[in-house]
Amino acid sequence: MHTTQQKFEETAIIIKQEEIADDIYSMWLHTEQIAAHAKAGQFVSVYCKEGSRLLPRPISICEIDKENKTLRLVYRKAGAGTAEFSGYGAGETLRLIGPLGNGFPLDKGYKKVFLIGGGIGVPPMVELSKQLPGEKIVVSGYRGGDLFLKDELSRHAELVVATEDGSAGTKGNVLDAIKENGLTADAIFACGPGPMLRALKAYAEEQGIDCYLSLEERMACGIGACLACVCKSKDVDAHTNVKNKRICKDGPVFAADEIEL
Ligand code: FES
Repeated sequence: MHTTQQKFEETAIIIKQEEIADDIYSMWLHTEQIAAHAKAGQFVSVYCKEGSRLLPRPISICEIDKENKTLRLVYRKAGAGTAEFSGYGAGETLRLIGPLGNGFPLDKGYKKVFLIGGGIGVPPMVELSKQLPGEKIVVSGYRGGDLFLKDELSRHAELVVATEDGSAGTKGNVLDAIKENGLTADAIFACGPGPMLRALKAYAEEQGIDCYLSLEERMACGIGACLACVCKSKDVDAHTNVKNKRICKDGPVFAADEIEL
């Protein structure tokens, strides 16, 4: 699934930024090239202005507007880098590199697909729900509180929600929601925390359906510089001769049966 592609480093202008849930920020940016070349499931790495020694932070792409050359990034404020980004407003600029990573495969011809997002893995499902052909059921897992991106997700797909605290939808995780609603599909496209992805890989095997997982939560720099993102693969890598893959370069999306979680 690895393809060589063009990436661009540029200064993007923030059009709008808002906090859409506790510590979850939505930022629209105007880019020269990145939006025009971006695909669903890819990400950008954003450079900090303060503390120039900090590596860039990888942030998944939530929406792409090619016509207006804009990108929407939705991220969690979780450390010094993202705290800095959350303080910027319209008119300010950020240096980005992207689009990075492979993105989700859109041409598999599935009739009905589960798009499953957990926590900060929810945002990439917005663009994917717009672009993936066929019938789509989005299953979103939240801790509770604000169901961020709920309106965007229900625009192009049926939306089913699970919350850990039971404040909305099914009380439990995304698989509990699938089972409670008696849902089925031909394939799974998912992004979220490790335990969720492991459970989905096992569920897909049990159901005999295809499964693509985005492991972006395990990335650090996003540009191949830190090697913090290596995961175990089933096959030997052609370049390094070991059973490893770099999530930021070879992924972040992998067929579930290619990788060990
Ligand atoms: Fe740093 Fe992959 S995230 S090398």
